[in-house]
Amino acid sequence: MRRNEPSEGGQTENRIARELGWVAGENGTGRTRIPRALTIAGSDSGGGAGIQADLKTFTALGVFGMSAITAITAQNTREVRGVHIIPPEMVRSQILAVAEDIGVDAAKTGMLANEDVTVAVAKALRETGITNLVVDPVMISKSGYSLLPAQAQKAVIRQVFPLARIVTPNIPEAQAITGMTITGLKEMKEAARRILAMGPEWVVLKGGHLSGEAVDVVSSWDRMLEIVSPRIETKNTHGTGCTLSAAICAYLAKGMEPLEAIKFAKKFITWAIMNSLPLGNGYGPTNHFYFVREGDVEVTVREV
Ligand SMILES: Nc1ncnc2c1ncn2[C@@H]1O[C@H](COP(=O)(O)OP(=O)(O)OP(=O)(O)O)[C@@H](O)[C@H]1O
Ligand SMILES: [Mg+2]
Repeated sequence: MRRNEPSEGGQTENRIARELGWVAGENGTGRTRIPRALTIAGSDSGGGAGIQADLKTFTALGVFGMSAITAITAQNTREVRGVHIIPPEMVRSQILAVAEDIGVDAAKTGMLANEDVTVAVAKALRETGITNLVVDPVMISKSGYSLLPAQAQKAVIRQVFPLARIVTPNIPEAQAITGMTITGLKEMKEAARRILAMGPEWVVLKGGHLSGEAVDVVSSWDRMLEIVSPRIETKNTHGTGCTLSAAICAYLAKGMEPLEAIKFAKKFITWAIMNSLPLGNGYGPTNHFYFVREGDVEVTVREV
């Protein structure tokens, strides 16, 4: 039996659904429905960032994950060896296919690869009416590889930022977007204001690249906040940005408002970094499954 069909054991099903954070069914049917999230991003063969990090994060947070792949990267914890960009029409087709059939409660974008793919994604987002959107303006990999040519950066700003509820640049990206030099909190706040003027409802300017406490500046038209966590001394931070934006997207899919979603996502990424995995010889990945606990269902093995 499929989980979202009504069942005789409806009470148990509802309890599990509540625990997983699934929302109650529509039209008083009593059915439960899992939140659905879509990532539009590149594949990281190393499994720590990109589509792979996003789908792991969605799963860890009890959200049904779907993907539209923009590019395939040959990548590990040390380097990006190659990028194969998917034809723009195929990227658009993936978005339309899932939106028209399965439905999307929230979406995120990551690596948009080039100008044509960016334009195709913006078009597909408008066509499908996806508005619960997080935009992670991925430009450079942690290992220093350029993931978005300058021409495409302009297209992301002009065409995708205005569609976003939340934009999540890191410091080098915020510098490229605004032309500012950012060395501390004061400049982060000014840059956040400038990016806000480019169209999104909220900006999360991530402080991962500075030193001291890990402070993210969070800004909307009428609010300016700092979300602070301790800095964890580790080199295993591959995919932190992807994971943070995927967690925000998952919480939006569950029905949270942006600020609440950002706060819970910061908690999620902090735990994931604290328990990061020393895999590979470069920047290892975060641990997406630290939050996942074993269920309380007892299983007995009987000799017969
Ligand atoms: N060493 C750390 N300790 C604690 N939090 C961190 C650390 N490094 C990054 N963060 C947090 O992780 C999140 C992602 O920030 P970061 O600046 O690393 O993103 P990014 O550069 O886009 O990452 P990526 O390389 O995956 O693209 C932010 O909330 C940031 O504050
Ligand atoms: Mg990033």
